[in-house]
Order: sequence, then C-alpha cells, then structure tokens
Amino acid sequence: MQFGIGHIVPEDHATGCLVLGSYAKRTRAGKAGAMQLSRAGERADRAAKGAITRALARGDLPHRVGATLLLHAVSGLKAQRVLLVSFGDLKELGVAKYRDALRGAATALKDLACADATLAFLDLHVPGRSPAWHVGQAVMALRDAFYRFDQLKTRKKAPAPALVRVTLAQFPGPVAPEAQRTLKEAVATADGVAFARTLGNLPSNICTPSYLADEARKLAKQFKLDIEVLERRDMDKLGMGALVSVTRGSREAPKLIVLKYRGAERKARPIVFVGKGITFDTGGISLKPAGEMDEMKFDMSGAGSVLGALRALAGMRAPLNAIGVIPACENMPGGGASKPGDIVTTLSGQTVEVLNTDAEGRLILCDALTYAERFNPEVIVDIATLTGACVIALGHIAAGVFANDQKLADELLAAGEDAWDRCWQLPLWEDYQEQLRSNFADMANIGGRPAGSITAASFLARFTRKQRWAHLDVAGTAWKSGREKGSTGRPVPLLVKFALRHAKPAR
Ligand code: BES
Ligand code: MN
Ligand code: ZN
Repeated sequence: MQFGIGHIVPEDHATGCLVLGSYAKRTRAGKAGAMQLSRAGERADRAAKGAITRALARGDLPHRVGATLLLHAVSGLKAQRVLLVSFGDLKELGVAKYRDALRGAATALKDLACADATLAFLDLHVPGRSPAWHVGQAVMALRDAFYRFDQLKTRKKAPAPALVRVTLAQFPGPVAPEAQRTLKEAVATADGVAFARTLGNLPSNICTPSYLADEARKLAKQFKLDIEVLERRDMDKLGMGALVSVTRGSREAPKLIVLKYRGAERKARPIVFVGKGITFDTGGISLKPAGEMDEMKFDMSGAGSVLGALRALAGMRAPLNAIGVIPACENMPGGGASKPGDIVTTLSGQTVEVLNTDAEGRLILCDALTYAERFNPEVIVDIATLTGACVIALGHIAAGVFANDQKLADELLAAGEDAWDRCWQLPLWEDYQEQLRSNFADMANIGGRPAGSITAASFLARFTRKQRWAHLDVAGTAWKSGREKGSTGRPVPLLVKFALRHAKPAR
C-alpha cells in the first residue's frame, strides 16, 4: 500500500473513496446532539448541497466510535464514494477511541473495490497529540487492518483488497513541513511491524534459527547492514555455556545473529537490542503441558521485534547506530538435553544451576547480554517473551519494563505512551535476588512462584551490572490467542520511537 500526503479541495478531489469524519456534539443539556462533520466534510457537504448532512440526519450512522456509512455517487463531488466514520463525542476522543475510529475506517475500506482512497479527517484531534502523531496512527491502523498471513493456505483465501493508494489529506491549511518525514517514519515502522508479525506467525518447522539467520541476511543485503552469524562451534569456543545448554536437545543448529545498522558517525555509541529467539519452547525436560503449546512458536517474538525494529530504522535512515543481537535456538527434550540440576558456566564466568529447563529464555539472554558488551553500547534493551507471570501481572495490554537506570525506564515508558505500544515498570530491587540462591552454583535459573517476572529480570540484571540496561517482558503482548490468534508485531513501534527519541531527545 502506497501512502501520500497533500492538500486537497474536497469537492474537486477525484478519488475512489473520500473518507470523512463525523462526530456528535453534545447539547447544552449534555445529550448527544446531531452529528457534525470534519472540516473537509463540511466543505464537501456544501458542494453536495447538504446531501451528506441529510444522510446523517436520517440516522444511519451509529454514534458508536468506528461505525461507518457508505454513500455512493454524491452529486457535486468528484469522489466516487464517500465513507463517513463516526468519532463519537469529540470531548471524549482519547487515543483508544481515535484508534477505534481508524480501525473502523480501515475495516470498511478493506471491503471496497476502489484502488485509492483519501482520508480527510485529520482535523479531528486527540488532545495533547501532534498532527504528526495522527498521521502516524492512520498509517499504522491501515497497514494493521490490511495485514494478511495466508501464504500457507491453499484454499479459501480471502481475496486481496483492492485498495493500493491512500492519501492523507491536509485540510484546511497547507501540509506541515515535517509531515513527509512523519509519513516516511510511519511507513517504515509499519513495514517493520509486518515483518515481525510474519516471522512470529510462521510455524517452528519453517521459522527455525537458520531461517531467522537467513531472513537477517536478506535484511542486511536489502538495507546495507553488516551481519555476522555465530555457529555452535563459535559459541562453544567463546564459552557461552548457558546458551549452548538450551540447544542441546534439538537437532536444529543454534545461531547467534548480530545485525548492525549505521546511520550516524562511526564513533557514536550504538543502541543494542537483544531479542529472545526461541523458535519453539517445549520446556525441554521440564516439559510444558500440551494445551496451547503451539503458541510457543511465538517464543521468538523478541527476536522478530529486533529484526523488525532494525528494518524500520534502516528503512527510514534514522540518524543513529543500532545493533541487534539475537540468540536463536529451540528448547527441546532429547537424549542430549540439559536436565534439572545441571550446572552450566556462562560467558560471564558465573555458574548457573538449571533447576527448570523451561526457564530457558534467561539462559540464552544472559550470554547474549554479556556478548553485547563488546559493542560498547550506549544502552542495551532486551526484548523477550520471558515469563507467564508477566501475563498474569499485566495481561495483554502492557509489556513489563525493568531497568537498572531510571532515566532509561522513563524513556521507554514515554516512547510506549507515544507509540501507544505501552509498557509498565516493575521493580528490580536487590531484595529479590535472594530468591535466586543456589546451594551448588552462583545462582539458580528460577526463583519460585512469587514475583516470577521480577526474579527473571533479576537474573538478567546479574549479567548487565556494567551497562545501562533495560528489559522488556513481552509475554502478554507479542501475540494474541483465540480466534484472533497471531503475532501483533509489538513492541516494534515502541522500540522505533524509543530509538528516534533517544538519538534526538528534542523530537
Ligand atoms: N516462553 C516462556 C514464557 C511464556 C509462557 C510466555 C506463556 C508466554 C506465555 C518461558 O520460557 C517460560 O517457560 N517461562 C516459565 C518460567 C518458569 C519455569 C520459572 C514460565 O513462565 O512458566
Ligand atoms: Mn520456557
Ligand atoms: Zn520460552
């Protein structure tokens, strides 16, 4: 889908579908009053001699936010169709409702046969959000609704939507100078999200560690990134005993992928993103129960989000340096698999008693985090579907964020709020370290039932003492279950916003 931005004259604008915003204005008495139109809508309505307001007055457009009404061949307009979208009461228009309205518009557009459409409601604003923010949200909502993953279906594929070109209309007033840049950033971010979603949705028999490495190599070629892939023998030689211990039960070759994007001068220290890339988590010898185990194909979502974020940053030529470090392997039972009680020596030299082989994410991450030190990072952020406990704590709304630096935590919280890809901070107090004590090694890899997400983060904290580091637990947000089962591409929007804001705090 192609996006453009420009000023339009609503009645003279030739398009397959002119999308207008409608909202209810409250009467003095506080009742929902008549429906009103966005500025471009008022102008189009005048040219159409009131045809649009008459349609509204008949009451066919529900007040429910995101409801739509399609009008054909409105006389006086060059547009073939007019799609009215309800934004509800403007006074109550917050981010969530605005996104509902966008989703409603996108869903309606998906079913139309027109190849191009123009969104002409950008004058309807969420208080406190910039014009650029509205452009970004519109792009993300459309791309989200038009995303498909049907390459593995041979029958009953939904027909491809006809819509290929979308214009974001600035009316009234000229196009803001920063609008083109915003658009470029939003499109690149949407590309990164789609990329991460597809990697997540692919089953583990296709999306293996080798497949992830190949996809990273393709990205490197396409966007001129540097890439290095470490093999098992390299990991052995380096002494990554924790990472190697997780892969022992699997026949799939583990990979440690390092992908580097350089958008700033060589001496600018990079942001390093470390992503958990377990392409399937059976639990290993501490085998998981069968129910919903298929969803453990999504256990590489952290890795997918790192690749997606780098793709986005490279695609928009962001003025910063970023490196992705991805430990990728399968967690399988088998004759060679690690067993509960086994003790491994990590790359850092610290020893770990593996009391539960299902707490494997922290084992691959700890060695990757130590490895990341060699890139002299400005900050390190790891992203992992790390604990079921995080889903219990925060559900599917917010990711958990932990940091050994409050300023870094604040930046991630703010970026998440901005991108509406939110996270929420949990404590990383030393008091929790006690739960990781082991009688036989420097630490255990589990800390018992209480505060499971915090003890997992506390484990990682032992490997990042020298760094400014944060950890995002995306176990509840990286994918959806049930009828809508599928990868969300989160937290790509958060990571991209964070990187852009971190590199240039003023924006
Ligand atoms: N990948 C899982 C975490 C997970 C579970 C994410 C369910 C989303 C939904 C992780 O490797 C894991 O198995 N964690 C264990 C840790 C426990 C053994 C300390 C968990 O959360 O049960
Ligand atoms: Mn596990
Ligand atoms: Zn896992």
